[in-house]
Amino acid sequence: MGIIVHEHSGVFHLQNRELSYIIKIMPNGQPGQLYFGSAIRDREDYPHLLERGHRDMAPCTFDGDTTFSLEHLKQEYPSFGSGDMRYPAYELERENGSRITYFKYKSHSVYKGKPALKDLPAVYTESEEEASTLELHLEDEVIHTELILRYTLFEELPVITRSAAFLHHGTEALRLTRAMSLNLDLPDSRYDMVDLAGASLRERYVDIHKLHQGVQSIHSMRGHSSHQYNPFIALKRENTDEHTGEVIGISLVYSGNFLAQAEADTMGTVRVMAGIHPQGFSWPLKAGESFQTPEAVMVYSAKGLNYMSQVYHKLYRTRLARGRWRDRERPILINNWEATYMDFDEEKILAIAKKAHDLGIELFVLDDGWFGKRDDDTSSLGDWYPNLEKLPEGIKGISEKIADMGMQFGLWFEPEMVSRRSELCKARPDWILGSTDRPLCCGRHQYVLDFSKEEVVDYIGSRMEEIIKNSRISYIKWDMNRSISDLFSAGRDREYQGTVYHRQILGVYKLYERLTQAFPHILFESCASGGGRFDPGMLYYAPQAWASDDTDGAERVKIQYGTSYVYPLSSIGSHVSAIPNHQTFRKVPLFSRAAAAYFGTFGYELDLNLLTEKEQQEVREQVRFMKAQRCFLHSGTFYRLESPFEGNEAAWLVASTDGRKAIAAYFRFLQPVNIGYSRLKLAGLDPDLEYRITEYGSPDAGGPASGLGPEVRSEAVGCENARLCPYTAYGDELMSIGLILSDYANGVRTSPVPQGDFQARLFLLEAL
Ligand code: DGJ
Repeated sequence: MGIIVHEHSGVFHLQNRELSYIIKIMPNGQPGQLYFGSAIRDREDYPHLLERGHRDMAPCTFDGDTTFSLEHLKQEYPSFGSGDMRYPAYELERENGSRITYFKYKSHSVYKGKPALKDLPAVYTESEEEASTLELHLEDEVIHTELILRYTLFEELPVITRSAAFLHHGTEALRLTRAMSLNLDLPDSRYDMVDLAGASLRERYVDIHKLHQGVQSIHSMRGHSSHQYNPFIALKRENTDEHTGEVIGISLVYSGNFLAQAEADTMGTVRVMAGIHPQGFSWPLKAGESFQTPEAVMVYSAKGLNYMSQVYHKLYRTRLARGRWRDRERPILINNWEATYMDFDEEKILAIAKKAHDLGIELFVLDDGWFGKRDDDTSSLGDWYPNLEKLPEGIKGISEKIADMGMQFGLWFEPEMVSRRSELCKARPDWILGSTDRPLCCGRHQYVLDFSKEEVVDYIGSRMEEIIKNSRISYIKWDMNRSISDLFSAGRDREYQGTVYHRQILGVYKLYERLTQAFPHILFESCASGGGRFDPGMLYYAPQAWASDDTDGAERVKIQYGTSYVYPLSSIGSHVSAIPNHQTFRKVPLFSRAAAAYFGTFGYELDLNLLTEKEQQEVREQVRFMKAQRCFLHSGTFYRLESPFEGNEAAWLVASTDGRKAIAAYFRFLQPVNIGYSRLKLAGLDPDLEYRITEYGSPDAGGPASGLGPEVRSEAVGCENARLCPYTAYGDELMSIGLILSDYANGVRTSPVPQGDFQARLFLLEAL
């Protein structure tokens, strides 16, 4: 187990209990890919897996050997101009314009642990025993350039992380125009590609389609990972479902432009790659310079999609997210955005905060509109000075008043942007990305600051630091509300322009690093016009991310369901908002809005003073429930049970690692008529344990007050509207037969099934 090196045969076997990944140095000196899948026994060599075949027309490496053609060999990091006709993993251009390179194996090293990637977010280890790393050192002797392919194998998780680095030791001026983080050649293409696609307000919908000959890809060329696609794909077998079957996940730890593609070729194989999008990318490599790609994280699951997601959740929650907040209970917050938008003053804010505090909410977040002259979105980004007309004592004053109430205080920033109407824009037009001899694209009346320039990052960092230092801030929402369009860095030369997309995101990472180091007590939540930058790169700095500006309780079920393919519940920013919902105009019951939000970080985004007494009481209950269960919900194992993309219902569940406790949520979108029987098959339980089942009632559906069954002590479950179901069941029954959802079982009314559209039900299962 671990990384086994067979020097003689040139075989490298990365093996743990769940997976094997086998590389072999091929006769031409390049690393070939032999196998990636369930763990197999280790052997000195697997010569038969280096499949070759004579094909007319195929460009061959060795004259006289018509079987060795890179066109048909499975490789680790294929190049252009080598006989391989598929997409290359990288392209390096020489001074004379040639893009032909030949990197051959030179040496390797294997060591315990995992190195950090300079200036880039990456998964880490806490002890050297958790993982081991293989570095393959390849060299192109003509241009004197080294290529390091890095693989880290986790001991206890079916995870391999990968990246590539180019180190130029020669004298020629080179240009790297493509550098994928990962290439994976698989021997057959009988897969479905899974990705998370969408748009603003409907981010990360699950998208599954069968691979066919040709290239199928997802990408972002917007300068951020985007609402449209997430930097994640998976290849699953046709009959793989949530609970069974084979799937390979690939997730890119990067927040900028990306490309992830699967190229199914005519020979029935598939080449998968992921990395920085080559469009507009061109990185000069002069003597002594290097380039490190972002990291890609591969997960292998032989136990379906749920297991793949659970592995990502565990890894990203505990070995990607960092800092003090990684393992802490997340505060239940109230955000004023949908309550007031930018129309607020101190009095309004304090009234909302006070009510929130009365109801048990812990953190008040002041959103957009507190600075410059910002009363609408046409001005003031970049002018990070409090608006004293709205907040006479500034951020210092309001944060202290809220702290005095016994609440924490959080603040919104949009550091990467500048409004067209702002003092900063007037003073430093040269800090804006774009070409000033042409009209600039404006998005939400704002421009993008050139974060590839150190002085710009420094200036914004100092402004933010000043405000943070002088106030009592314990949370920051870091927003980003437009894509990068007219990319150009003023005052920089031609060569520099091809580096700007990447440098821009490096600048964002740098500022995050500076602020998270300087203020370790602050909880950061990333945001990009909703969920436009919900990616692993961001999670390295901000352990939670606002999932979407769509706060509708029903839409959220879909968005959070898709998000859960990769991201842990503790990272999914989720709020209960007002009805009619501001995005969909729907009226989802308060109970259902909260039921969706519990499976995320949880908070509120509405004016609580406008709720009725009864609703406020319900909110108090919800807060109490979440306080009692958040630790469990955020650290338990999440299972998707029913997909909202396949019908009128959805369901999911969180189980404790020992299977003794679970909380399941069931959502039904539209009210059917003359409803039939219905059961929900659970997962993650111990088949041999007997479970007590408690349903948290919606007050609208009649809770304990309806007198339908024995009530449970509210402290035990953190909710007054909770009642015991009149039966217990064993784990095997609940997983094979299911939880009875219809309202009568054996003549006994099992539950007051809520009626109407957009209903939710919540069940607690505890082993007796
Ligand atoms: C977009 C965010 O997603 C919202 O939550 C809010 O913060 C607005 N920006 C403020 O402009």
